[in-house]
Amino acid sequence: MTERKFEERPKRDGLVRLQTGIPGLDEMIEGGFPFPSVVLLSGSAGTGKTTFCLKYLCEGAKKGEQGLYFTTLSEPTQWMLRYASQFDFINKDYFGDQIRYMDLGNMMREMDASQLLAAMEEKIAEVMPQRIVIDPITVVGGMLKGDYRLFLFDLFNRLKNWNATTLVTGEVNPGELYPADVSYAVDGIILVMLSEEAGARRKYLEVLKMRGTNHQTGKQSIDITRTEGIVVLKARF
Ligand SMILES: Nc1ncnc2c1ncn2[C@@H]1O[C@H](COP(=O)(O)OP(=O)(O)OP(=O)(O)O)[C@@H](O)[C@H]1O
Ligand SMILES: [Mg+2]
Repeated sequence: MTERKFEERPKRDGLVRLQTGIPGLDEMIEGGFPFPSVVLLSGSAGTGKTTFCLKYLCEGAKKGEQGLYFTTLSEPTQWMLRYASQFDFINKDYFGDQIRYMDLGNMMREMDASQLLAAMEEKIAEVMPQRIVIDPITVVGGMLKGDYRLFLFDLFNRLKNWNATTLVTGEVNPGELYPADVSYAVDGIILVMLSEEAGARRKYLEVLKMRGTNHQTGKQSIDITRTEGIVVLKARF
């Protein structure tokens, strides 16, 4: 079992927060995601969800924390690494060491909800991550045998009991805000979206809810860059 390193950052309100590493975002949410908590990152195709998740995990790894990335897409690790390697903030040495990876895609087809939860918990117990990602969670709904909403409540409660802050991504159709069934069970919701303004399609981020946090509201422009991944543009503040 890996030793857990953790830089505690209790705020005045007593909540420990994990910096996301996304420039501009931590300032919007009083320093970072509450720890422990479950945060939904919702957006349509190509809005930057996976990039956000990678940055979140790398930020933790940089601080000596452990990260665990569950994918539900049956993507081989090499594929994911190839995608990730375009970003300057990615240190390849983190993968397989401080950032571990598990593909739930095939398991979901064969397992029922309780077996899937057990398999995830076994991995969590092995890695003991402070930061967990499930990307995308919405695929589970269409595949899981059994009650999806019950599974989500059970999963999210267990994740918090493991003392981790989990980022789950939700795929929605353009124009839709978030997957309703996931939104009820989470502590925070961040939207990433594309919208058209003055004839140009631009990317935005919005913090819709963050329990225990006096967060900034409204759409903020974001950029995706090779050096930083996702950046919240300050000009909008
Ligand atoms: N190097 C880059 N520079 C600028 N923009 C980039 C770069 N790499 C990726 N992007 C943008 O990020 C988008 C993909 O980001 P990402 O894969 O994180 O999105 P996603 O929401 O996870 O997508 P999906 O729904 O396909 O899983 C691309 O469509 C592109 O607009
Ligand atoms: Mg993605």
